[in-house]
Amino acid sequence: MSNSPVAIVTGGAQGLGAAICIELLKTGYKVCIANIQEEKAKEFMEEQQPVYGSENIIAVLCDVTKEYDFKKVFDLTLEKFHRVDVLVNNAGILNEYEPQKVIDVNLVGTIFGCRAALNYMGKSNGGKGGFVANIASIAGLLPESALPVYAASKHGMVGLTRSYGRPYHFKKEGITFAALCPSFINTDLLRTAVTLIQGADFTKRTDLMSPEYVAKAVLKLLEDKINGSTLILPYHLEKEGILFAALCPSYTDTDLIKSTKTNTLVPGLDISNRDLCSPEVMAKGVMKLLEDRINGSTLLVSKSLGSRYIGFQEEFKNIPLE
Ligand SMILES: NC(=O)c1ccc[n+]([C@@H]2O[C@H](COP(=O)([O-])OP(=O)(O)OC[C@H]3O[C@@H](n4cnc5c(N)ncnc54)[C@H](O)[C@@H]3O)[C@@H](O)[C@H]2O)c1
Repeated sequence: MSNSPVAIVTGGAQGLGAAICIELLKTGYKVCIANIQEEKAKEFMEEQQPVYGSENIIAVLCDVTKEYDFKKVFDLTLEKFHRVDVLVNNAGILNEYEPQKVIDVNLVGTIFGCRAALNYMGKSNGGKGGFVANIASIAGLLPESALPVYAASKHGMVGLTRSYGRPYHFKKEGITFAALCPSFINTDLLRTAVTLIQGADFTKRTDLMSPEYVAKAVLKLLEDKINGSTLILPYHLEKEGILFAALCPSYTDTDLIKSTKTNTLVPGLDISNRDLCSPEVMAKGVMKLLEDRINGSTLLVSKSLGSRYIGFQEEFKNIPLE
């Protein structure tokens, strides 16, 4: 039996899903393309087999809105590859005038995927654990005027990921859950998008990311293994290659704090007698940002609260700096 890890990618026949399959194959994974478009999935598989080996790719018909289809997908993948390590819940649609369908595919489909992963990979069912990557969206964290239904489905996916990502589930099942929250990607989803704002055409945006670039972030999720996390992927990172991160220090023992005695609106306020951190600890916080390279993150450093990432990134780490 081969030692290569195995991944199932829903909606893996085109767009971001196809790019994720290729990135996984390049990294040495065997891949099951689980798609509702049977012919398209077969075509994509046949294109990739000469490059990555016919023994390393299968395509299985799967409608993520049917829970039974996930059983079929996992059974056939196990039959062929004898193991499943990763499920990528990537299948998705965007049509503001078909709310039931959008919620069914994007949210309920992801819920079915997670449940299948728990059944087949969960330790409490005799599995050996693994990883579930949910492809949400930046619309899973921020409002989007043209896409309330889509945003609701993606917010749901983020809530689902964070909840399954709690230690209770990890201890029981050994499965890590993480969500990817990309901004706009150049795929059919945008070309066929039906939005609430008439004439809105996302394909005309000048900040579309390539599916290949976004697919690399899925590998980053698998590598980082930060349970319950949401990785935001904005355009400027692909374009400029610059990561942005903020250090949010609490009170630090510097002249600025000493000046609060005279320079604040509250007479006599003296912050200099608080729990102050040393500038050296803050400098370590900056080094931590450089080391972690978490784009869009905000690292809080405080004497009483310790140091932790806050905001969009769930508080996933408690980092000793002293
Ligand atoms: N394109 C973007 O701007 C963007 C941004 C953020 C997140 N996303 C998310 O990325 C994911 C991939 O989308 P994409 O942009 O590659 O779009 P796409 O339309 O190119 O691909 C979507 C895939 O999902 C499949 N699919 C649809 N319904 C399905 C079902 N019921 N069962 C199984 N497969 C089904 C389609 O056949 C297709 O292969 C989606 O979840 C989408 O919401 C896209």
